[in-house]
Amino acid sequence: TVASDFVVVSNRLPVDRTDDENEPWRRSPGGLVTAVDPVMRSNNGAWVGWPGQADVELDPFEFDGLQLVPVMLTADDVQLYYEGFSNDTIWPLYHDVIATPTYHRTWWDAYVKVNTRFAEAASRHAAEGATVWVHDYQLQLVPKLLRELRPDLTIGYFHHIPFPAYGLYAQLPWRRQVLEGLLGADVIGFQRVADAGNFARAVRRQLGFDTKAGAISVPTPDGGVRTAVARAYPISIDAAEYEDLAKRPDVRARAEEIRTSLGNPKAILLGVDRLDYTKGIRHRLKAYGELLADGRLSVHDVILVQVASPSRERVQTYMELRDEIELTVGRINGDADELGYSAIQYLHNSYPREEMVALFLAADVMLVTALRDGMNLVAKEYVASRVDGGGALVLSEFTGAADELTQAIKVNPHDITGVKDAIMQAIDMPQKEKDRRMRALRRRVRENDVAKWSERFLSDLNAARKEHP
Ligand code: G6P
Repeated sequence: TVASDFVVVSNRLPVDRTDDENEPWRRSPGGLVTAVDPVMRSNNGAWVGWPGQADVELDPFEFDGLQLVPVMLTADDVQLYYEGFSNDTIWPLYHDVIATPTYHRTWWDAYVKVNTRFAEAASRHAAEGATVWVHDYQLQLVPKLLRELRPDLTIGYFHHIPFPAYGLYAQLPWRRQVLEGLLGADVIGFQRVADAGNFARAVRRQLGFDTKAGAISVPTPDGGVRTAVARAYPISIDAAEYEDLAKRPDVRARAEEIRTSLGNPKAILLGVDRLDYTKGIRHRLKAYGELLADGRLSVHDVILVQVASPSRERVQTYMELRDEIELTVGRINGDADELGYSAIQYLHNSYPREEMVALFLAADVMLVTALRDGMNLVAKEYVASRVDGGGALVLSEFTGAADELTQAIKVNPHDITGVKDAIMQAIDMPQKEKDRRMRALRRRVRENDVAKWSERFLSDLNAARKEHP
């Protein structure tokens, strides 16, 4: 194995192993991979992660220009560490208990065990004095474990999802160990200022450490004190890549083709989400269904395209959500459809980026109604794709993106009447106002792109290195 000066560690590799011989690797879902992929390409490092299938043991390999270091998870690990503790304990707890978190000691034990395995793999692939950047809630113990193994490393951690208020966080039976795990990093990054604040408060309340303006004083084993930085670094996308795609003649032609195939309605509404209860898909459907039932919208004029990409399909809450959404879609279509006219086109699938950009270009209104979301990169992808200046964005206040995308039409997704009005406002918005808003939104996304995000984080991390004795 070759040791790297820059190592990224995340639960998932950027590609998932499939059972399809013709296409053995497929791009992994979610915002983390979207954001970290371009950073890896410009830093030329090694990426340590799970290849997405149980019991797959592989040597490090190169794929599409990236150095990948697979970490094996057994079927038990997948069930207890990934589906259990990561996605049925931490995920719902950190998203303000939209679903009820489950606390199991066996899940926690597996989480400790698998985090140790990731820390060991990172340690093996990091050169002397290297920078290691750990990502997300599945690996919150890795910073501390890795520091114990390799005091020479500079360690960063970025938290892609929200960090909850202490009143909720305090439910976690292992709240102390998780904070200590994170504090093993030199820089701990969050999406919003509010998340960094929640973290600092939890550290004060639980551990009694001093926290001042994002600098946390952490006692060291030798009786000294070191500083861990906890700040907000709002994540983003490679905006130029989306712009380029949106300008490509074949993508534009595809957008036209999509509009035509949908019957050229007055308005195409679009939702694009992982099929997750944090995304507020049911609230969106409810609002839209009521607008049709009230007669404020008609299937002759409007269609909602809902892309729901399959996610965490073996976790009970996700299975129930899927049933509920598909029932709701069926009901709304059954009530509102006319021969040849459909209210909702529901796609339980994921698509290549070209196709997504074509869809963004075809959509008059993008609906992002998450109940809680660390950032929501789909909102930024939509904005970056609208090189034509068209389109309107309805955006939930409960997303990290809402802090930056102030020219969107803001909604509280729990307020169904408010969501209905926002959808109507977006459909009826005069072209001039759409242009003005979209121009401001695009400027924001272009200025604060993913390169800016990683530069800000890595430059703070680099400053931390200089403080090392
Ligand atoms: C979110 C999380 C990521 C995760 C992704 C997809 O973006 O922040 O850590 O990888 O969802 O979820 P999955 O469970 O399929 O990895």
